[in-house]
Amino acid sequence: MNWGVFFTFYFFISQVTALEKWHAYSKGEQKIRGCSNHISRSLSFDKGSKYSYAKYCKNVNALSTLVGCLADVNVNDTKMFKYIQHECIDEYEIDLPMENLTNAYAYLIQNGVTWKLLKERKYNSTTEILNTPVFLNKTLSTLYVKAQVNFLTSYTNSMYYGIGAVSYWLAVCLVGGLANWSMIWFPSLRNSMNGRISKLWRKWITIPALFGKKQAAVQKLGLFSALVPSRIESVISLLFFGLLIGVNAAEIKYIDQDPIFKVKKIALLRYFSDRTGIVCVVLIPILLLFGGRNNFLMWLTRWKYSTFIAYHRWVGRWVVLLAFLHSIGYTEYFIQYDTYASNMAETYVIWGVVGTACGCLILFQGLLYLRRNWYETFLVIHIILAAFFVIGTWYHVVELGFAQVMIAAIVVWGFDRIVRVARILHFGFPEAQVTLMKDKLEIIVPRPSHWKPIVGGYAWIYFGDKKYFWQSHPFTYMHDEQSVILYTTVHAGITQKIAQKLQDNPSGPSMKMRVSIEGPYGCATPIEHHSDVVFVAGGNGIPGMLNEFKHLLTNEKTKQRIKFNWIVKELTMFEEMAKHFAKLPLSNTEVNIFVTRQPALKSLMGSDESNDTDFKNEGKFDTLSGVSLLQSDFPDINFIMQRPDLDNLVQRDIEEAANSVAFVTCGPPIMVDELRSVIVDKIDKTNKRVDFYDTLEVWT
Ligand SMILES: Cc1cc2nc3c(=O)[nH]c(=O)nc-3n(C[C@H](O)[C@H](O)[C@H](O)COP(=O)(O)OP(=O)(O)OC[C@H]3O[C@@H](n4cnc5c(N)ncnc54)[C@H](O)[C@@H]3O)c2cc1C
Ligand SMILES: *[C@@H]1O[C@H](CO)[C@@H](O)[C@H](O)[C@H]1NC(C)=O
Ligand SMILES: *[C@@H]1O[C@H](CO)[C@@H](O)[C@H](O)[C@H]1NC(C)=O
Ligand SMILES: *[C@@H]1O[C@H](CO)[C@@H](O)[C@H](O)[C@H]1NC(C)=O
Ligand SMILES: *[C@@H]1O[C@H](CO)[C@@H](O)[C@H](O)[C@H]1NC(C)=O
Ligand SMILES: *[C@@H]1O[C@H](CO)[C@@H](O)[C@H](O)[C@H]1NC(C)=O
Repeated sequence: MNWGVFFTFYFFISQVTALEKWHAYSKGEQKIRGCSNHISRSLSFDKGSKYSYAKYCKNVNALSTLVGCLADVNVNDTKMFKYIQHECIDEYEIDLPMENLTNAYAYLIQNGVTWKLLKERKYNSTTEILNTPVFLNKTLSTLYVKAQVNFLTSYTNSMYYGIGAVSYWLAVCLVGGLANWSMIWFPSLRNSMNGRISKLWRKWITIPALFGKKQAAVQKLGLFSALVPSRIESVISLLFFGLLIGVNAAEIKYIDQDPIFKVKKIALLRYFSDRTGIVCVVLIPILLLFGGRNNFLMWLTRWKYSTFIAYHRWVGRWVVLLAFLHSIGYTEYFIQYDTYASNMAETYVIWGVVGTACGCLILFQGLLYLRRNWYETFLVIHIILAAFFVIGTWYHVVELGFAQVMIAAIVVWGFDRIVRVARILHFGFPEAQVTLMKDKLEIIVPRPSHWKPIVGGYAWIYFGDKKYFWQSHPFTYMHDEQSVILYTTVHAGITQKIAQKLQDNPSGPSMKMRVSIEGPYGCATPIEHHSDVVFVAGGNGIPGMLNEFKHLLTNEKTKQRIKFNWIVKELTMFEEMAKHFAKLPLSNTEVNIFVTRQPALKSLMGSDESNDTDFKNEGKFDTLSGVSLLQSDFPDINFIMQRPDLDNLVQRDIEEAANSVAFVTCGPPIMVDELRSVIVDKIDKTNKRVDFYDTLEVWT
């Protein structure tokens, strides 16, 4: 092993283990702190700082007063004495003999002055240092202890409430994972789990969009356009919000005659601000986990990345809200104590402000409008702000004992990045053949034999370009033994830059380019055990659909009836992909190509080429030139010159299915949403099991 690496590693581990650790205050410790609080606020035994515990370690009068108070509240036992001993060693490096502790009570009895006496002679702790122990007012001690226990219980439990909030997600993921994996492990469950409840559950909860049809499609509101989470995502997010309210309100109560916080408002403000702050911090690791590409929960649940990104957004909003409430709460708290200026100047507070500010900025810079229009800029700023959110929080809480939580957050983040690099290295940097076709790029990447693709998965591509190497873009792919093939529509970003490069290429619109692929990600669609599988692809959603179709067709074990529908605007789209269809054994399947618009044909009709309305004339032209040529090349494919009626299509496919049918789709958001709503409508109108797998992932 390389010693340099070893020592670096050792250094980090030692740094990490040396950090302040969180610990739950036991009841006894809480009581000691109550007594100490009483002493700090009313007596003075040395010139040291008022709230310091050092006095008990070296001053017999202070120690005896404390032990007297502990006796008053019944915790003057060996366990507590040992605890005090530890504190003296750990915090102040003073070795306090056990004898001194056990003798302290007797010393108090012999030398103590009474509280009453101190009051009578108007003792003032700011001006006078005591040289005798004091019998504290027992009633007051009891009140102090009660208030301190209330405060510290709430403080300690804040950690558990935070862990509870995190556990909610683990529980939700566990249930989701069990539901999805049991269908894989026990395929026959699918048919037996097709009763009324299962159907209603899928019809009303798991499959539909939140309201109406819109899910993959954007809710257009100008600058505030947004992706609406699906119904199940909404339910899960909303339950979490409810849980958060509970978690932040529980056990926040005021003790009457509280001597620590004399005003109820201030006490509640303090408890609530601590609670929101702590719960916020505890949620950070899971927030980062949800945002990562290599989130183990994705494997556990088989949920899509876009689902986790939706949760990432919602958890992120609540985390920022909590940070905000915590900040506002403490600001008000400082103002109430007239210590605003001095507190705000403290380094850890400044870092807290940095964290909260970055969090709030993310809420705005993450708007869909900005993601859509300037994705790479959004991403870079997002990462920088998120980094400062984490760094700010780190310095804010590291000495308060929350370093472990922040380390968990950083480990989660680091792990994702390391796995991403490992995946890229695993794939290598082969030279791909990139070709510009009409409005898209065909990228044929030589496939390393050790790279195992997922049918129905997707991957992120990197281009070995001086300017763009740091960008990665997700694409579904097709694959065979030799290559991974991507079809990418030319948009305004990197795809446009590459298209331009190809256009300017003197030797034609095709060239070799170094690329790397990070993947595969995603899960295979669980369709091996349905009697019928129906693919519905739309436009550029073709590569993934065709890949799944191909692998199902060419698998000898497949005994399913498979149908493939592809809805394209123009016949040329089919022609571009024709070579892939040509290789498929299509004789036992049904393949329908729906062409919704045909400029060449339209000009035949004498209408304006710029008229973009969809071609609706029913099936009149399927014998015309281009089509008839194609038809003779592809006798097994039905070319239908019209937009399909999805309702009819689904109805027919359900009727023809033997006992279960899976609809698998990818395409334009509006089409996918339409299909979803049609299927949701039909799910409980048949005895057959109907499943819907939407492989479209939208998060930008
Ligand atoms: C799982 C998945 C599979 C996809 N498969 C295909 C496919 O097979 N064929 C295809 O043509 N397109 C596919 N896309 C879309 C494709 O990723 C984007 O069109 C591409 O990243 C645009 O690159 P650009 O720089 O040219 O885009 P821009 O012109 O900069 O942006 C166009 C759109 O793409 C979004 N976008 C840009 N970069 C990213 C990114 N890194 N991650 C996510 N969204 C981004 C923008 O928000 C915007 O909405 C897929 C997307 C996802 C999420
Ligand atoms: C413990 O008690 C002894 C005897 O009273 C005293 O000399 C010593 O200073 C005490 N130690 C501490 C750390 O207070
Ligand atoms: C604890 O307090 C009781 C009085 O409440 C006293 O009798 C006893 O000696 C104390 N024990 C110790 C170890 O100081
Ligand atoms: C104690 O003394 C300080 C300084 O002389 C004074 O400001 C303060 O008001 C006094 N406190 C009480 C309770 O008398
Ligand atoms: C002890 O404290 C209580 C509560 O503050 C008070 O009512 C009582 O008068 C005090 N007793 C003495 C002796 O000061
Ligand atoms: C497109 O054609 C339809 C029917 O022929 C016509 O009603 C419409 O006005 C045309 N639109 C445009 C933009 O030319």
